[in-house]
Amino acid sequence: MRTKMVAGNWKMNKNLQEGLALAAELKQQVTNPTCTVVIGTPFIHLAPVCELLKNTPIAVAAENCADKEKGAFTGEVSAEMIASTGAQYCIIGHSERRAYYHETYDILREKVLLALQNNLKPIFCIGEVKEEREAGRQNEVVKAQLEGSVFNLSAEEFGKITLAYEPVWAIGTGLTATPEQAQQMHAYIRSLVAAKYGQTVADETTILYGGSCNEKNAKELFANPDVDGGLIGGASLIAEKFCSIIAAR
Ligand code: 13P
Repeated sequence: MRTKMVAGNWKMNKNLQEGLALAAELKQQVTNPTCTVVIGTPFIHLAPVCELLKNTPIAVAAENCADKEKGAFTGEVSAEMIASTGAQYCIIGHSERRAYYHETYDILREKVLLALQNNLKPIFCIGEVKEEREAGRQNEVVKAQLEGSVFNLSAEEFGKITLAYEPVWAIGTGLTATPEQAQQMHAYIRSLVAAKYGQTVADETTILYGGSCNEKNAKELFANPDVDGGLIGGASLIAEKFCSIIAAR
């Protein structure tokens, strides 16, 4: 059976002290989860948060990594550096990185490869913008995103990837995809994985939903057969809300 997961993405929120306080709250409250729990934190939080969460059921993710291995790339943080903090996951291809930092399919392909080479498990994000959904183009958009950045992988490599479907129009807007919209897209994504890697790999692929997923709508979203969990932004910043979402999975 494939992994069920609830992952948080703190984005650019919380200074170091605030982040450590939130991680400490989660450490206390998340003691026996029935799914994999991951928190994605800013780079500077990674090492102390990993230290704090050592020997707990909570794993840690970076929110990004460099598309280069090492060297003269001022301000960048490599996958190797991330792995050296104890982080086990790396969010790659978030729509905010694609839109604001111009991350192309090619750049994201490099990031995924570097994450895998350094034993980080990518949480790879895909999803259409509002205009694409309105034009009925959502399927072709996510297909191109997968083909552009992860369908180059071997089946073994692809097996290490978690996918996150995040319709951009639902992120931070309070406009959640309906459970039907989420299920339809997740089933379509799984069919693409099956066509590329076979049904066994597709059945093992964890596909998260992200976009205004909260403690109120999580249960209904997670009840769908192809929705394996959530990638949570705003609601992951409040321990009580994040814990309710974990309990809904
Ligand atoms: P919100 O949950 O704040 O809509 O953000 C979703 C997201 O972008 C997670 O990566």
